[in-house]
Amino acid sequence: MINRILSSLFATLLVLAPLAGNSRTKAEIDRLVAQRLAKMSLEEKVGQMAELTIEALADYPDGKFTFNEKKVNDAFEVYKIGSLLNPPYTVAQTPAEWQTVVTRMQNLAMEKIGIPLVYGTDQNHGASYTNGATFFPQNINVGASFNPELAEEAARIAAYETRACNIPWTYSPTVDMARDPRWPRVWENYGEDPLVNAIMGAAQVRGFQGPDRDNIDANHIGVSAKHYLGYSMARTGKDRTPAYITESDLREKCFAPFKACIEAGALTIMANSGSINGVPVHSSYRWLTQWTKEELNWDGMIVTDWADINNLYTREHVAADKKEAIALAINAGVDMAMEPYNVDFCTLLIELVKEGRVPMSRIDDAVTRILRFKYRLGLFDCPNTLEKDYPKFASKEFAEKSLRAAEESEILLKNKNNILPLAKGTKILVTGPNANQMRCLNGGWSYTWQGHLADRYAGKYNTIYEAMCNTFGKENIVLEQGVTYVPEGSYFEENLPEIEKAVAAAQNVDVILACVGENSYCETPGNLDDLALSVNQRNLVKALAATGKPIVLILNEGRPRIISDIEPLADAVINVLLPSNYGADALANILIGKVNPSGKMPYTYPRHQASLTTYDYRVSEQSETMGGLYDYNAEVSVQWPFGFGLSYTSFEYSNIKVNRTSFTADDNLTVSIDVTNTGKRAGKEVVMLYSRDMVASLVPENRRLRAFKKIDLAPGETRTVELTIKGSDLAFVGYDGRWILEKGDFRLQVGNQAVMVNCTATAKM
Ligand code: BGC
Repeated sequence: MINRILSSLFATLLVLAPLAGNSRTKAEIDRLVAQRLAKMSLEEKVGQMAELTIEALADYPDGKFTFNEKKVNDAFEVYKIGSLLNPPYTVAQTPAEWQTVVTRMQNLAMEKIGIPLVYGTDQNHGASYTNGATFFPQNINVGASFNPELAEEAARIAAYETRACNIPWTYSPTVDMARDPRWPRVWENYGEDPLVNAIMGAAQVRGFQGPDRDNIDANHIGVSAKHYLGYSMARTGKDRTPAYITESDLREKCFAPFKACIEAGALTIMANSGSINGVPVHSSYRWLTQWTKEELNWDGMIVTDWADINNLYTREHVAADKKEAIALAINAGVDMAMEPYNVDFCTLLIELVKEGRVPMSRIDDAVTRILRFKYRLGLFDCPNTLEKDYPKFASKEFAEKSLRAAEESEILLKNKNNILPLAKGTKILVTGPNANQMRCLNGGWSYTWQGHLADRYAGKYNTIYEAMCNTFGKENIVLEQGVTYVPEGSYFEENLPEIEKAVAAAQNVDVILACVGENSYCETPGNLDDLALSVNQRNLVKALAATGKPIVLILNEGRPRIISDIEPLADAVINVLLPSNYGADALANILIGKVNPSGKMPYTYPRHQASLTTYDYRVSEQSETMGGLYDYNAEVSVQWPFGFGLSYTSFEYSNIKVNRTSFTADDNLTVSIDVTNTGKRAGKEVVMLYSRDMVASLVPENRRLRAFKKIDLAPGETRTVELTIKGSDLAFVGYDGRWILEKGDFRLQVGNQAVMVNCTATAKM
């Protein structure tokens, strides 16, 4: 009894600990870490390196998540576990439910180990594992907004709402780049371009962590930039299958966003599950230790992805058994193992140290990094944060920010004869499988991993049909879907189509809003074999087109599904990507003209299945038909290029100037351009600066985005926009993996304007 009273008093004291107030220098933190480390046993150290899923501490009698008290006790008392992840049952929890679970675990860690637990979870677009939280559009939309301020704000709000749940760590941002449209995680990234991923990733690191990486306050959380390195480029397009990447692309493109996140202060990174050129990333000393900890002098921590040490022997076959896999990964530089189910990681690692197969110095280094992270998060001073300290959770203010992010990210791709915006009073058929559910607007990592239960949790938000009724008047809207998804089924499962019903309903309307795309998915369950939009959905659009009524095609999909046979049938196309809970309201605001669309394509939208490319392809990928025997040709033909997006107004570019026409690596190049809004409505434009290396020792790329700025222009207004880059920004990584800026001409292009500049000195970097 006394014990119980003491332990509950202890728990109360922990909760009442001051929220912030500590502000330590890095040197002070390192001194505290060293003092603590010196007193720790091998068992305690190894425990800090282990992360279990909360499910590993439970049983499921009658399918109900129930803590197994022995497993809970052993995790802390025997194995000294340092980290937990995931919501119970892998379903979103309310802040109060989260508080109950995390506070209990945290208090146990403090009581039994004396070192706070770091609880992590995937709060990927807002606090997306929190029931009731403000969800933001997925990262692919953040990329499409080309607005880094929105990116930072979304992360700041996600951090605040995550702390309301007593969680200090998220597995975000995802900066793998969406370079293969087949890949099921395209939508988790900010698009295909390394610069956009670098800028948006860094903005989100700042938003999540706040201004001081050594002293993360109680409104911010630690990040894990993921999935380091080269995860998105699997040869098959399927999740977690091998990638083959040149040294040049690996260093110049894949590494760049991670470097930017680390330089912005990212405290942890998560390793890529797969392999590159035959080497699993989890076993690579070169990528894990040399490229980050050594070259960047980075003092953060590396966590594995889900079960990826185990995958070294079960899937990748570079280790004979689990013990060998652990030795490989820890010696390569893994600091924390997202195990996630078995405590034998601890026993095996202890054996490995005793046998001399993992040096004690490596363990000490890993634990130093983990403890440093926990100090930086303020967990030693304040292990728990309280829900009541977060009164703005799910506030109207946050909802408005999410709506604005959605509005800025939806992309107008076609608007024949200015059919949009639609006048109030227009009679509209809302049709297609994406017309009336929240699940497809949200995508994966929404309430659950696959996002498949979103309609149970997000009922209070508007589907496209509901938003259209609110905006255009219920009396003007007819809903007849024609094709529907199987509720809570796999992302590709559709019910028997009822296309004739939709065609019949089209007779009495002025315009058809055909909402097509994909249902939600995530990771491996989202793999596909056919990139075309489903046959049912294409048949629906074709049948509707035969009515002669104008079609506005709404694309709501995590990756670009090929629609080249139905695109010509549409008068207008809007790609809403995955705009989340306020995405339908944003769409209705665009359709009625309250909002002028300003999103731009964050990836290249392919036209053909076997013609997949990115905007920065090497120039020889495109060549015109030549005369002669072989009629040698290769054509890049895409549906919509990267960076494309229309507005209800028009913009003209003129008067491009550059501050110097010759340069070396250290010079600044400032390009200025006049942008005029030549239409009748205010609008936002993304001004993008591209470069082209005219002759280089590696086949040059067609173009590369070097800088961008989003501006707002009133009708008739002209603004001079300046974009500055360094000469060294025009360098590339050669076949030998080294940065080089080569002498010669470069073309700098903004809109339809271009200037030439000349680099006068080759520089190796
Ligand atoms: C995913 C990660 C995620 C982790 C924890 C993995 O399967 O690849 O992105 O952070 O699970 O949920």
